[in-house]
Amino acid sequence: QLSLREQLYEVLASTAQFYQHALRQSLGQKGMQYLQEHRQFKTETIQQFGLGYAPAGWETLHRYLVEDKHYPVQLVEKAGLIKPRKDGGGYYDVFRDRLMIPIRDIQGRVIAFGGRTLTEEQPKYLNSPETELFSKGKTLFALDHAKDGISKLDQGVVVEGYFDAIALHAAGINNAVASLGTALSMEQVRLLLRYTDSKQLVLNFDADKAGINAAERAIGEIATLAYKGEVQLKILNIPHAKDADEYLHSHTAEEYQQLLANAPLWLNWQIAEIIKHKDLRQATAFQKVTKEIVKLLQNIVNSDTLNYYISYCAEILSLGDARLIPLRVENL
Ligand code: UTP
Ligand code: MN
Ligand code: MN
Ligand code: MN
Ligand code: MN
Repeated sequence: QLSLREQLYEVLASTAQFYQHALRQSLGQKGMQYLQEHRQFKTETIQQFGLGYAPAGWETLHRYLVEDKHYPVQLVEKAGLIKPRKDGGGYYDVFRDRLMIPIRDIQGRVIAFGGRTLTEEQPKYLNSPETELFSKGKTLFALDHAKDGISKLDQGVVVEGYFDAIALHAAGINNAVASLGTALSMEQVRLLLRYTDSKQLVLNFDADKAGINAAERAIGEIATLAYKGEVQLKILNIPHAKDADEYLHSHTAEEYQQLLANAPLWLNWQIAEIIKHKDLRQATAFQKVTKEIVKLLQNIVNSDTLNYYISYCAEILSLGDARLIPLRVENL
């Protein structure tokens, strides 16, 4: 007798196969076309990530799993694949007419799905609900593929989107994971840091407002680690392009590596964000900026690091060290 968890793994693996199969049939043709033409993914990549297609009907998967494969309906519901109809009669498929991306645990077992719409339907991405096996804040997409790359390169790269991670792997940059749309949690970071000795992490979120906000929130989550030097955190915002997937449509892997290598440390990035679009010749703007920068530097524990940032900011604000000196007194 299999445990509930084992049964869930089984029904999810079976579902991933069903979606993969559908992608290769005529009903999944538009999904395949989207992957090949719009995303420019090779067959090899589609295969490697087990991408699939959820048919448009209301109970295609439900019928397959329950009627053909004889899985108990409650099990399929617990796997997050079907939901009871509001009017009390039967169940409907959670994912319909979507491109399906299996989300796997570190061992490569399917634990959930992300589904991208092929139309204008909202939400653009639909994810499995939290289940016995799947907790969004504890999962990193593609970590099963990336863990060896992270160890070898001694660095992890976190992107926002499933397709960013997939595109990076397809380009041979195999230390990339995606955060599943939420701001990165402490648990996700700890998961990733297991694989790098020197604790190097690059956040490459989208260069749009949402991405900047997500980066800020992620920094907020892990600032305590970062201030202590327990993570060497860098922030990459790709110039002129929104995300890694789009960037790689017109740039080489080497160019992306170069961006990674030149990415600023998180404090430098935050200082730049604080100063961005501010007119420092105006007294109120200047005071506000200085205040925010002092707040940022206040938590630096290493005195060499603090000295570096005091000089750095003093220069940027062209005020000599004097105004930032109180920081030294408080901290040393
Ligand atoms: P984005 O909205 O940046 O995706 O969401 P994108 O790169 O523009 O999407 P494409 O390229 O048009 O497909 C990034 C990530 O945020 C989560 C998903 O994990 C997605 O990959 N997300 C986004 C959701 O969970 N739900 C949404 O409705 C949108
Ligand atoms: Mn594209
Ligand atoms: Mn975005
Ligand atoms: Mn994006
Ligand atoms: Mn994108």
